[in-house]
Amino acid sequence: MQILVTGGAGYIGSVLVKELLADGHKVKCLDRFFFGKESLAEVLSNPNLELYKDDIRWFDPKVLKNVDVVMDLAALSNDPAGELDPAKTLDINYLGRIRVARLSKEYGVKRYILASSCSIYGFQDGIIDETSSINPLTTYAKANRKAEEDVLPLADSKFTVTALRFATVYGYSGRMRFDLAINGMVLGLYKNPKIPVMRDGKQWRPFIHVKDVATAYKRVMNHQQDKINGQIFNVGSDEQNYQILPLAEMVGKSLDINYEIDWYGSADSRSYKVSFKKFKDTVDFKPAYTPREGAREIYEALKTGKLVESTKTKTVEWYKHLINSAELVSEVSVRNTIL
Ligand SMILES: NC(=O)c1ccc[n+]([C@@H]2O[C@H](COP(=O)([O-])OP(=O)(O)OC[C@H]3O[C@@H](n4cnc5c(N)ncnc54)[C@H](O)[C@@H]3O)[C@@H](O)[C@H]2O)c1
Repeated sequence: MQILVTGGAGYIGSVLVKELLADGHKVKCLDRFFFGKESLAEVLSNPNLELYKDDIRWFDPKVLKNVDVVMDLAALSNDPAGELDPAKTLDINYLGRIRVARLSKEYGVKRYILASSCSIYGFQDGIIDETSSINPLTTYAKANRKAEEDVLPLADSKFTVTALRFATVYGYSGRMRFDLAINGMVLGLYKNPKIPVMRDGKQWRPFIHVKDVATAYKRVMNHQQDKINGQIFNVGSDEQNYQILPLAEMVGKSLDINYEIDWYGSADSRSYKVSFKKFKDTVDFKPAYTPREGAREIYEALKTGKLVESTKTKTVEWYKHLINSAELVSEVSVRNTIL
């Protein structure tokens, strides 16, 4: 199959692109490469990979010719990055993705898969499923919901549209994100050893390993159209809903290191415990990885030097750096935009 992955050099995208290539697919990766292309270093010479340094808001739609599936991941990818410039966040994460979906349909793409997020559930008691009300608290979460609302009605018998609401992701990627909870905990353990925990530690959050995310995409891509068309799925697993403090303690124990808890922030306004039954039952999805394994793999990568902490590994810090960076002035004058 010919697959277009937007945001394909990102934390999830780069793992996904490598897996799709390993399965023999042809992949087009469209990305602004805000974090570079090093995440794809191992596959850059693969003849089945084409790179397009472009923006989802204005790329030439001819890229979509002969594409069977679009996996739309490009976005400002977390709550704090989304608040740097809320109007730009809506431009990219909402309008940009609507543009990708509409053009995909126009160009005869058969399937479009939106990367949404469980963060749209905000703060809620009880166990939430896809029929529960939502409570998007941040610009990032609101943009995800608006994108879902506009892409799903594009679904018809020739154009399959699916929205995946991912749990918070963890695990090693060539574009590392230490701003994600488990990854940041392991970095703190490696450096101090102190585990950063956002107050009050009682908030619930679901998790999924980055390789399981790639598996989830492959399941959706290959699944019977009528079961997934026009559908929203929470993607994760019931077993990997955790409260943050017990999760930190589990991560600490899994590495067998004496640690302290490093409390930060004011009480987290986001807490959600999610049911993943619909996805499990529909596409027969079971994660292969646990936070313990993810933590060990990141710790090993830090120990061997395969992973190094840098500003680039903290999403909001890196976007702030790009905005302030003189290196990008030429790009600003071309498009009058850094982001
Ligand atoms: N990582 C998670 O825990 C998580 C959880 C739920 C949902 N998601 C969603 O999954 C997607 C991927 O997240 P990630 O963790 O890989 O983030 P990431 O920041 O690592 O990757 C995003 C990629 O998109 C690119 N990009 C940003 N704006 C662009 C634009 N306007 N045009 C083209 N490229 C652009 C960036 O250069 C980057 O390579 C996002 O949509 C995110 O909201 C992620």
